[in-house]
Amino acid sequence: MESRLSGSLVALFISLLWLGQGGWSLDNGLARTPIMGWLHWERFLCNVNCQEDPHNCISEQLYMQMADVMAAEGWKDVGYNYVCIDDCWLAHTRDADHRLQPDPKRFPSGIKWLADYVHSKGLKLGIYQDVGTHTCAGYPGSYGYYELDAQTFADWGVDLLKFDGCNFINLDLLIEGYMNMSLALNQTGRDIAYSCEWPFYLWPFTKPNYTEIRKYCNHWRNHGDIDDSWGSVKNIIDWTALHQGLIAPIAGPGGWNDPDMLVIGNFGLSKDQQVTQMALWAIMAAPLLMSNDLRNIDPDAKALLQNRYIIAINQDPLGIQGRRVSQLFNFELWSRPLTGGGFAYAVLNRAEIGGPQKFSIIIFGLDDGKACQEECLVTQILPAFQFRGIHVLTSLLDFWVNPTGTVLFTVFPHSTDSSLKVGTLKGNKEQRSRL
Ligand SMILES: *[C@@H]1O[C@H](CO)[C@@H](O)[C@H](O)[C@H]1NC(C)=O
Ligand SMILES: *[C@@H]1O[C@H](CO)[C@@H](O)[C@H](O)[C@H]1NC(C)=O
Ligand SMILES: *[C@@H]1O[C@H](CO)[C@@H](O)[C@H](O)[C@H]1NC(C)=O
Repeated sequence: MESRLSGSLVALFISLLWLGQGGWSLDNGLARTPIMGWLHWERFLCNVNCQEDPHNCISEQLYMQMADVMAAEGWKDVGYNYVCIDDCWLAHTRDADHRLQPDPKRFPSGIKWLADYVHSKGLKLGIYQDVGTHTCAGYPGSYGYYELDAQTFADWGVDLLKFDGCNFINLDLLIEGYMNMSLALNQTGRDIAYSCEWPFYLWPFTKPNYTEIRKYCNHWRNHGDIDDSWGSVKNIIDWTALHQGLIAPIAGPGGWNDPDMLVIGNFGLSKDQQVTQMALWAIMAAPLLMSNDLRNIDPDAKALLQNRYIIAINQDPLGIQGRRVSQLFNFELWSRPLTGGGFAYAVLNRAEIGGPQKFSIIIFGLDDGKACQEECLVTQILPAFQFRGIHVLTSLLDFWVNPTGTVLFTVFPHSTDSSLKVGTLKGNKEQRSRL
C-alpha cells in the first residue's frame, strides 16, 4: 500500500515536471521534430553578381536548381524538405503599397511563382526577413510592417520564415517585434514555421527568457553564424555544452535550439570533422539545414548527410536534446535518450595531434546502464556502420577515435521495439551473414 502510494506520487511528480518543461510551445503544429532542409547563407552569402557568377548568385535559378536536386537525388526521401532563401533576395525599396518585393532582375518570376515551383517538387519554401529597420545586408527590414509582411509571405505561399535581428531599435522593441511577427504569422492562417535569432541578439545584454522564446518560435539561434571551419564547429559545440543546463531542457517537439547550418560538403572540414558535425547535430536535436552546393557534392558528404540512422536519431519523436555527460582526457562523451529506452552516444576526440586513440567504457558507465538492465544491442553508426554485438552491464566497449573525429553509437535494450532497432537488427543479420 505504502509503496503503491509513493509510486503514484512519483508518477504525479514526474507528470508535473513534464508539464512544467514541455507544455508550452508555439502552438502551430509545426516542427514536431527538428526541421530539415537547405539554406543558402553559409555557401552562397550575399552573392548578387549574376553577370559574372550566374550559377552561384542569389536568384530564382539557384532555388529552382536546388529544389530539382533535392527531389531527384534522395534528399527529399530522407526528410530534407525545406528550400530556404536567406538575406539578399529583396529589392532595395518596397512597392507603392509598401509591400516587399524581390529584386526584379534576379527574381523575375516573383516569389509566388517560385513557391509554386518548389511545391510542385513536393518541397517547401523558406524565406528571410529581419525584425529591425533593415536586414543584416541592408535591405528593407520588417520593422513597422510585421502584419503586412506576414500576409505577403502567406499570399506568396511561403512555408518558413527565418527572422534575423540586425538593426533593431532597442531591446524591448526587438522582443516585441519577434512576438508580434509570430502572432502576425498565426493570424494569416497559413502554416509558416518561424525561425528566430532572438536569444542571440539578447545575450550581449541580458539572459534570454527561453520559456518565453519557446512560446513564440519553432527554433532559435543562440550564437553567431557558423562558418566553414573546424574552429567554428568547435565553438558551437563548446557554447552548447557550457549552456546546456539552461537550453537543453527547453528543447522539445515544436521548439528547438538551432546551432546553425550544416557545412558538410564544402571546403573547410576534414572527413572526420564532417562526421563530428553530423553526429553532434543529431545528439543536439538540431534543425538540419544544409548550406552547401547540392548540385555538385562529394559522394562521402552526400552519404553522411543522407544516412538514415543518424537522421533517425536527430528526428527521434521524444525530442529530448542530448548533453555532454563527461570529459575524460581529450575525449568528450555526449548522450541522448531515444524512444524505446535506448540511447545514442557520441565520443568526440578533441585532440588535434597524433593518430586514432582508444576510448574504453563499461556499459554501466553509460547512463548507469539504463539501456542494458538485461541484454542490450550496441550498434556503431559513425564513422562506419558496424553491429557491435549483444552485451550486458559489465561488458567493456572499445572505440578508436580519430583526432577531431567522432564515434556515434546506440545502445538499445534487446527487448525494445524501436525504429532504430530495425537498423541494429539489420546490422545483426548482415553481421551474421558475413560470419
Ligand atoms: C494560431 O494559434 C492558435 C492558438 O494558439 C492555434 O490553435 C492555431 O493552430 C494557430 N494557427 C496557425 C496557422 O498557426
Ligand atoms: C506589437 O503589437 C502591439 C499590439 O498591436 C503594438 O502596440 C506594438 O507597438 C507592437 N510592437 C512592435 C515593435 O511592433
Ligand atoms: C519568462 O517568461 C515566462 C513566460 O512568458 C514568464 O512566466 C516568466 O515569469 C519569465 N521569467 C522571467 C525570469 O522573467
